[in-house]
Amino acid sequence: MPAWLEDAVFYEIYPQSFLDTNGDGIGDFQGIIQKLNYIKNLGCNALWINPCFDSPFKDGGYDVRDYQKAAPRYGTNDDLKRLFTEAHQRGIRVLLDLVPGHTSEEHSWFIESSKAKPTEYRNRFIWTDHCFKRAEGLGFIGGETEREATYIINFFKCQPALNYGFLKPKEAWQLPMDHPDCIATREAMQEVMRFWLDAGCDGFRVDMAGSLVKGDDADKSGTQSIWRTIRAMLDAEYPEAVLVSEWSFPKQAINGGFHIDFFLDFTENQGGYRSLFRNYGTNATGSSDTSFFKAGAKGNIHAFLDEYLDQYEATKDKGYISLVTGNHDTIRLAYTLNPQELALAYGFIFTMPGVPFLYYGDEIGMRYLSLPTKEGGYFRTGSRTPMQWKAGKNLGFSDAAADKLYLAVDLSPDAPTVEAQEQDPGSLLSTVKALLKLRHENPDLQSRANLEIIYPQDKSPSSGPLVYRRGNFLVAVNPDLTAKSILIPGKVSAKEVYSIGQSCINGDTCRMEGQSFGVWAL
Ligand code: NOJ
Repeated sequence: MPAWLEDAVFYEIYPQSFLDTNGDGIGDFQGIIQKLNYIKNLGCNALWINPCFDSPFKDGGYDVRDYQKAAPRYGTNDDLKRLFTEAHQRGIRVLLDLVPGHTSEEHSWFIESSKAKPTEYRNRFIWTDHCFKRAEGLGFIGGETEREATYIINFFKCQPALNYGFLKPKEAWQLPMDHPDCIATREAMQEVMRFWLDAGCDGFRVDMAGSLVKGDDADKSGTQSIWRTIRAMLDAEYPEAVLVSEWSFPKQAINGGFHIDFFLDFTENQGGYRSLFRNYGTNATGSSDTSFFKAGAKGNIHAFLDEYLDQYEATKDKGYISLVTGNHDTIRLAYTLNPQELALAYGFIFTMPGVPFLYYGDEIGMRYLSLPTKEGGYFRTGSRTPMQWKAGKNLGFSDAAADKLYLAVDLSPDAPTVEAQEQDPGSLLSTVKALLKLRHENPDLQSRANLEIIYPQDKSPSSGPLVYRRGNFLVAVNPDLTAKSILIPGKVSAKEVYSIGQSCINGDTCRMEGQSFGVWAL
């Protein structure tokens, strides 16, 4: 396990929308380089950059046309290498986004694979054996290629699924995982990884990591075996490199070789993560919101704890779980949470075990905007708008004319900006900085130190407070509007080291006023 993860805090950058330095209306590598000091000063020491490779951008770059070529709109491979170097000089690690499950339909592998006359890439993707064959249980496309077969897609229509084989092939066209062509797919992906690791990146966030093997792989043993092989390569050749999975099932992902797995609100889950901040269904009017961090919503923290603790206990000695403030696929938390509610949510995220991820702009409470879809974003587009640096033209994102921007900036007169919040000690940005400083100064609040839930102890529904121990610290958060007191067994003295709102520990009683957060050294 690379030691640097113990104190890692990631910042996720959607490169389209971070900073445009050449006036073309879209973010670029140079823009990220210019803001490395800002990121460092914020308290983040690692980056995850969404796919920045050559792509037709029908899915925000998750449709890769050439894995080894930087997307020209962001710069060149040399610019990206310079970004690695500049980041490393500031003690910042950089993860790229690896998309191993599918390519763009414009990738040369797929073009070769779809020819009528077989080529060496014939089995690089999953093809049936007839132009009218329906692939049961799998999304597939027919009628598009000169090859007389249908092919499996992994996500959108433009994303043909790469072929890692079937754990239990049921039809002649389903190759077993140990078929040389399926092994060749994995090896090709390993070559992509070596290419960027040799160029200086520090690892990968892995897209849809749990779905490489198709068909019956319910326990994911097939997919896990591929990742274990890849992890063995990293351990042998790049021991400092890190793999973070978009799997959202840490028990499976970490046992499958990942260092970190995200805890997300995938629909397959029972909704543990969603219950914290996003339990408003499709209607965010407030009345139906039962999120734990929504004041007055009386959400039940057990919805999160039951799911999280089960995964945490099973993985804590082998890898980390990542809680995120959001990402490019989720609606920003500021959609429903006000700045005070956000501050409490961040207090929780940044004092929990595992490796936290902050989505760009969440540090200032950037809003979710209602926008038409762009590059396959659909409802996600509103969470991908340009970073809001300062008052004035395009909020400091770009010098381009407003109608040339990748996406419109937030035009509301009170749109939050970095510049305004930097001046304000009470701002969300200042809170994030203080929380991350506290985390960096205290190993007990970092990734590895143990978590023990102090309250609630019984299983009856609880809207808080949530009180937990991390090493020699006690952390308590009360997102509810009403004050609450709980007993801390055996407590005699505690020194407050950080607080939001009003809270105190007197003797063995912890009193939390409504909407408060506190950290005490024991
Ligand atoms: C998950 C990515 O985060 C998302 O943005 C993308 O659309 C799909 N995977 C397909 O690659």
